[in-house]
Amino acid sequence: MVEIFDAIKKSAIRIKWLIENEDTGYSQNINATGDTQLKLDIKSDLVIEEEFRKISSVKEIISEEKEEKTPIYENGKYLVGYDPLDGSSLLDVNFSVGSIFGIYKGEYDGAHMVAAVYVIYGPVTQMVTAYEDVGMYKLNSDGDFAFIKSLELNQSGAINATGGTHSNWSKKHHEMIEKIYSKGHRLRYSGGMVPDLHQILLKGGGLFSYPSTSDRPEGKLRMVFEVFPFAFIYEKAGGGATNGKKRILDLKPSHPHDTTPCYFGSKDEIDLVLKHNE
Ligand code: AHG
Ligand code: MN
Ligand code: MN
Repeated sequence: MVEIFDAIKKSAIRIKWLIENEDTGYSQNINATGDTQLKLDIKSDLVIEEEFRKISSVKEIISEEKEEKTPIYENGKYLVGYDPLDGSSLLDVNFSVGSIFGIYKGEYDGAHMVAAVYVIYGPVTQMVTAYEDVGMYKLNSDGDFAFIKSLELNQSGAINATGGTHSNWSKKHHEMIEKIYSKGHRLRYSGGMVPDLHQILLKGGGLFSYPSTSDRPEGKLRMVFEVFPFAFIYEKAGGGATNGKKRILDLKPSHPHDTTPCYFGSKDEIDLVLKHNE
């Protein structure tokens, strides 16, 4: 696992450089979920593939930006599913973006996840790893990631981050969000799941949701690359993650690019979501 985390750190340093120095415009290509790729989505994906190709414990990888799985070492133990550049459409407005990694053993589902990592490229670059516990690291000017602190969610929080087009939400989702606001929660939403979920994690708690909408009944966020890693991190930090009815980590995608409605938060907020959907 240490060498996988090292490969992620090396990728992060290279991606940070690309963000700061390369063209942040769109390419002509469309990825497996139908998004037009930025040139940086493609480049970041290649950087990560290149770094994982050096790691003998990696059996196979699959990226949000590629249709197919890429075999690495036949005798490797781990499968890695990743989103090389999450929130890339926010690069033009200079918001924080991230990279998300799910490390699996055997299959790409919640039950087989063994670790999860994300990197946030903000005013500083930080990395959060969830393995035995959840730890945050900061990239220093000497190129090392220094441990900062362990992260733990409080029983409840005060932030509400909710995605999707409001006019396409269900009545039930509108009502649930009203309930959250009536408890005193305040809106905090950048449109990048990495900074939005990072904020909730660092500020002790709250709720992030990307629900089922009339235009996207299965939500937008992808299980293997985005949703399982954050579900794993939130559970390890003492919170939870649900699709509204079931625990996220009990879900099984039928295709690696499948999406799901999702709610991540501290315990009280997740209980409220589950109760509301009973
Ligand atoms: P990506 O840039 O990898 O395609 O992912 C963007 C995602 C996620 O970061 C964010 O939470 C969500 O899209 C925002 O979607 P809406 O603008 O529909 O709320
Ligand atoms: Mn993403
Ligand atoms: Mn992406």
